[in-house]
Amino acid sequence: MKKILVTGGAGFIGSEFVRQAVYANQYTVEVVDSISYAGDRARLKSVWGDYKFHKVDIRNAVLIHSLFKKIRPDIVVHFAAETHVDRSILEGQVFLKTNILGTQALLEAARHQGIERFVHISTDEVYGDVIKGSSTEKSPFSPNSPYSVSKAGADMLVSAYARTYKLPVNIIRASNNYGPWQYPEKLVPVVIYKALNHQKVPVYAKGMNVREWLYVADCVRGIMTVVQKAKIGEVYNIGSDIYRHNIDIVRLILKILGRSEDLIQFVEDRPGHDFRYSINCTKIHRDLAWKPEYDLKRGLADTVRWYCANRNWLDKKVSYLSEYWNKVYKVKK
Ligand SMILES: NC(=O)c1ccc[n+]([C@@H]2O[C@H](COP(=O)([O-])OP(=O)(O)OC[C@H]3O[C@@H](n4cnc5c(N)ncnc54)[C@H](O)[C@@H]3O)[C@@H](O)[C@H]2O)c1
Repeated sequence: MKKILVTGGAGFIGSEFVRQAVYANQYTVEVVDSISYAGDRARLKSVWGDYKFHKVDIRNAVLIHSLFKKIRPDIVVHFAAETHVDRSILEGQVFLKTNILGTQALLEAARHQGIERFVHISTDEVYGDVIKGSSTEKSPFSPNSPYSVSKAGADMLVSAYARTYKLPVNIIRASNNYGPWQYPEKLVPVVIYKALNHQKVPVYAKGMNVREWLYVADCVRGIMTVVQKAKIGEVYNIGSDIYRHNIDIVRLILKILGRSEDLIQFVEDRPGHDFRYSINCTKIHRDLAWKPEYDLKRGLADTVRWYCANRNWLDKKVSYLSEYWNKVYKVKK
């Protein structure tokens, strides 16, 4: 069996990847994760005992190098990152260290060890605001937040290692994911938590920003398709073609939970807030025959159902968040 090393496998998307990789029964799965505030091995409880775990920080190049020597992975799928735009606005340095230098440590270890494939998980945010049309894999980068700049830096570093050292890479630029186990700093779980608890639901500006909403299991099926079928060196956008204003997502969740729209509270906008992202996914549809299966109605209904069934997990995470929420959600004067 091929050995697959998943960085950030205790995170929201990485843990879904670990589950799918274990269920595929074709890989030995090893996870590297530092368990930052966003990491949690509880996400992996359904595959307990079916993967090996290494609590290692990807910023530690020495440890990463020796881990690669010990594990000798065939494939690396790199999710580990600082991922929340609002936090990058409050404190950007850790984003540059983890997302850029951490990625470099992995690339160095991979090139010295020799691997079959390094799959880097990037984001649609590297293309920046897309007011009209959609970004293809060849569109220029124009990142606007410290988070997206750090992800663009990592993305370019991966390409540089492919060209300079002939490292066998693929890059995936995914759109906004939602689904079970997402940390309640991102829009969907914030809205679910607030609505479940009859609290005001904070919405930036007038909620008109547009995102492309992709159910996490679909995204991971796309990533798995790239791992299994993509030509080395290729870059793929992975999105859903489902575009909604943030306010429409909020209204849909309130409707599913039977709550009034009076709970909506518009708050001061996020500084530098990108208005719209949109990626063109023709390439992965055409070349790898991947398409998402979930429509928004089913994806959101399943997500809400999951949070209702896992309120203990949600409450525990939120118990650490009130100070942070006060910093980012400021009621308009
Ligand atoms: N969530 C989205 O909508 C989305 C969209 C496109 C791309 N992405 C990218 O997908 C990847 C995963 O995103 P996510 O939403 O699952 O993130 P997440 O924040 O839920 O998980 C990140 C994981 O990385 C780990 N981590 C953080 N710093 C680390 C370090 N220094 N060393 C080792 N591990 C570390 C955390 O402990 C956590 O388990 C990220 O690279 C992100 O940029 C996310």
